[in-house]
Amino acid sequence: MEKIFYGHKGRQSHKWHHYLEVYDLHLKRFRNTPVRILEIGVQTGGSLQLWRKYFGPTAVVFGVDIDPACQTFDDQDAKVRIGSQADASFLRSVVAEMGGLDIVVDDGSHVASDQQISFETLFPQLSNGGVYVCEDLQASYWDIFHNGGYKRPGTFIELAKQLVDDIHEWYHDTPPEVVNNAASLIHAICFYEGMAVIEKRSRPRSYYCGMPPVVSAT
Ligand SMILES: C[S@@+](CC[C@H](N)C(=O)[O-])C[C@H]1O[C@@H](n2cnc3c(N)ncnc32)[C@H](O)[C@@H]1O
Repeated sequence: MEKIFYGHKGRQSHKWHHYLEVYDLHLKRFRNTPVRILEIGVQTGGSLQLWRKYFGPTAVVFGVDIDPACQTFDDQDAKVRIGSQADASFLRSVVAEMGGLDIVVDDGSHVASDQQISFETLFPQLSNGGVYVCEDLQASYWDIFHNGGYKRPGTFIELAKQLVDDIHEWYHDTPPEVVNNAASLIHAICFYEGMAVIEKRSRPRSYYCGMPPVVSAT
């Protein structure tokens, strides 16, 4: 990913340097497959070109943005649709057009309520084995423009922290708080600076195991 990003000569993209390693860690298994990736936040269109290069010719690459000017970045590399990440029916229509969803990268408004609506809408649509990435969670701590604040309920950081409790519901007997019982479909929640990566995989109740089996003496 670093090679592709720093060698890129096309349209501009801005990412924090350490995100590149994180993408590779969680997304490389999708390279050269018909993966369906949706990025929220197109801006200058560079990241869509990078996803195309990274995932290869069989990937389905879509971007959504609220700014109609981004329509000009709709091309052979990626489809761009104009609308808000806070509009659940718009997001569902984009996923229908994509034919399903394997990866979401939320790099849109970074406003807490928008991130939450996108997660609540798109996480249930992700395929089993899919990955949900929410970027720039620094904004979860910023009040101005982003409705954030330290430990402020409703931010994406707090939602992801709640999911940590929700995936352990067997052990504290408190019902999951995040909607759609999302935790029952979560294999892993990984926090990096400014970024949360949620790996979806249906998860039956875990069990303890031991090898070799105990053989009775009788
Ligand atoms: C950080 S930029 C995206 C950068 C791009 N992903 C990249 O890596 O180069 C954020 C984009 O989100 C868009 N945006 C802001 N509010 C939005 C919303 N409610 N829904 C969809 N996109 C939004 C902005 O217009 C802007 O283009």
